[in-house]
Amino acid sequence: MRTVEWSKDKVCLIDQRVLPAEFRVLRLETPEEVAQAIRGMAVRGAPAIGAAAAFGLALAARRSRAADRAGLWRDLEEAAAILRAARPTAVNLAWALERVLRRCAAESDPDALRAVALAEAQAIADEDVEVNRRLGEIGAAIVPDGATILHHCNTGALATVDYGTALGVIRTAHEQGKRVHVLVDETRPLLQGARLTAWELQQLGIPFTLIADNAAGHFLRTGQVDLVLVGADRVAANGDVANKIGTYKLAVVAKENGVPFYPCVPTSTIDLSTPTGDDIPIEERPPEEVTDLVFRGMPVAPPGVRVANPAFDVTPHRYITGIITEKGIAYPPFRMSLRRIVEGRL
Ligand code: MRU
Repeated sequence: MRTVEWSKDKVCLIDQRVLPAEFRVLRLETPEEVAQAIRGMAVRGAPAIGAAAAFGLALAARRSRAADRAGLWRDLEEAAAILRAARPTAVNLAWALERVLRRCAAESDPDALRAVALAEAQAIADEDVEVNRRLGEIGAAIVPDGATILHHCNTGALATVDYGTALGVIRTAHEQGKRVHVLVDETRPLLQGARLTAWELQQLGIPFTLIADNAAGHFLRTGQVDLVLVGADRVAANGDVANKIGTYKLAVVAKENGVPFYPCVPTSTIDLSTPTGDDIPIEERPPEEVTDLVFRGMPVAPPGVRVANPAFDVTPHRYITGIITEKGIAYPPFRMSLRRIVEGRL
């Protein structure tokens, strides 16, 4: 199944909290349940949460008991606010909600509006798969045969509706017959690399080695990495990129060692209304994500410690070689190339 799909009037999600131990599907019936699944990271990854939120809005439209269009619109806006607040950094969430709302705004008949909300959410999901395949083709062109690729977090089918972004590029290169090897960052604190990326690569038969996050610098300095590929949650107009915490450190060490560093994003992740990385809101997540890990049967930290848990960091554009999208690769100066890409003029 897809990571996120609509089936029998419910939003169905692969529950990413229990992978790889268990494959469990959640069937959600209300927009509040969808918002909770996004907040709790049952579904995660920028494009996947965008699609889930869009379907959440379709649920709101279906379930609304409003007698007239004005009431239905109020219910939709209320649901959109709840969904939008679930996670702040990934712009795909707000982008998908705005897209559904914009499409619904044109409908005056309540039943037509309900139908259109679902159709638009479905279009967002279907397009995501198409976009990732195109992005994969474009990105694979810069992957040399025999490359060792360093990858952070999870950007595969699980982070999108299907196929993946950075992992989609790796997958396309592999499908083209290129020999690739992936160094998989475990990605503390929630271990998206160890739990999800390793699981996906294993199923795809793509060779990989799991490494502790702390080991990445060693592999970069000793010439064992040809390319760093990551995803992103938001790209600012100047090319600064917000992605999973730890990405900034990788980019700096990659540049220091002359290793190309490419974020891979659908154009829906590019936010020209956010001028620079400093303007991107960084999500702070619960301290328990850092402390409530059990190691050899013991908790990893003493009780009551103070914890900081930013979920994302910003990589300034000067560390970025290029930004791979489904419409082409943006190179510096990014302010110009990103605008061209978004407007389809590259
Ligand atoms: O907190 P997460 O797991 O949602 O973070 C995901 C990432 O940082 C991904 O790299 C990003 O969303 C791009 S996914 C194609």
